[in-house]
Amino acid sequence: MAVLLAGGAGYIGSHTAVELINSGYDVVVADNYSNSCPESIKRVEKITGKTIKTYEVDIRDSQAIEKIFVENDIDAVIHFAGLKAVGESVQKPVMYYRNNIDTTLSLLETMSKYNVKNIIFSSSATVYGEENPVPYFETMKRGVCTNPYGWTKAMMEQIFEDAAKADPELSVILLRYFNPIGAHESGMIGEDPHGIPNNLMPYVSQVAVGKRECLTIFGNDYPTADGTCTRDYIHVMDLAAGHVKAVDYIMNNNCVEIFNLGTGVPYSVTEIVQTFEKVNGIKVNHVYGARRDGDLAECYANADKAYEVLGWKTQRNLEDMCRDTWNWQKNNPEGYGR
Ligand code: NAD
Ligand code: UD1
Repeated sequence: MAVLLAGGAGYIGSHTAVELINSGYDVVVADNYSNSCPESIKRVEKITGKTIKTYEVDIRDSQAIEKIFVENDIDAVIHFAGLKAVGESVQKPVMYYRNNIDTTLSLLETMSKYNVKNIIFSSSATVYGEENPVPYFETMKRGVCTNPYGWTKAMMEQIFEDAAKADPELSVILLRYFNPIGAHESGMIGEDPHGIPNNLMPYVSQVAVGKRECLTIFGNDYPTADGTCTRDYIHVMDLAAGHVKAVDYIMNNNCVEIFNLGTGVPYSVTEIVQTFEKVNGIKVNHVYGARRDGDLAECYANADKAYEVLGWKTQRNLEDMCRDTWNWQKNNPEGYGR
């Protein structure tokens, strides 16, 4: 059975490729490398010992992606391909809507043409917005998003739901990721952000490796136990395993389902820094600064549904996440060197 990973050379796609191959699936990767590089897939090949068919293609280009469906017997698609930097989405909203929505439409059109009926989508906890109380349940309504990136996710969820309503044979799984961090245990693949990282963990590890001087912790006056924001950090390999369970499920069930992929356990920014320092025996220079616009005090999942329906739950703890992040960063101080 072949699974097409659209955006599969990226951080989550590459880790998912490892888990799918290890579970016996064939994978085909399509990526335009706008935020990744072919080296990540070469490393996946080294880890798994399997050759992966890859296409350098813009997923928005329906004609170009048709070739993939003609040349391969695709059973399911996982749609990772998207732009994901929240701040950039505020500066360049049209680029975000164009890329994220168009990739979705092209995939759905081409799948329909080639009679492929299973799609799994990389959504985000961001769609819960500001109004819903934590922990977030899948039954809650999508909220008001705080930035264009978030709106693209909410809109794409709606597009998938509408498409499935119109075509009852189409199965859709919307996976709402919480905060993926960590790396494959080998340290051969990991997160490789361009420029100054926006997200916490890559910033922490780049300070630890000496690439950045000091981490600013955004706000210590939140109504949380230590005053810093809490998030539901999830090991990227646990997240990858969640995708395998979702593929197993969608192959056997005609469904439209939403699953939170998180641990259900929130940790604060200060706890992340302290755990990283303790587990790795390394200092992370940090100062407390002003709050960042748009940040919520708390964000964490209720992850029961994924366990009850998919039989999936996380296996790795915060120490594992911090250790594996550092293992990747110290072995690859320049990431993939792109
Ligand atoms: P990533 O940037 O590492 O991976 C996305 C991949 O998609 C990249 O390889 C990029 O080159 C590719 N891509 C983007 N636009 C494309 C296009 N038009 N055609 C072909 N390829 C294209 O990001 P990631 O962290 O692996 O995230 C994967 C997905 O999960 C994204 O949709 C993201 O929004 C979503 N997500 C990520 C997080 C997170 O914290 N990392 C959280 C929630 C949701
Ligand atoms: C952010 C996005 C979310 C997106 C996710 C993955 C916002 C409001 N949300 O989530 O939509 O799905 O990234 O791309 O941007 N922090 C610091 N110092 C730093 C960086 C972060 O203190 O240098 C703190 C933040 O204030 C936050 C926590 O660390 O409390 C996690 O931040 P981050 O990794 O950016 O993720 P989110 O903001 O949760």
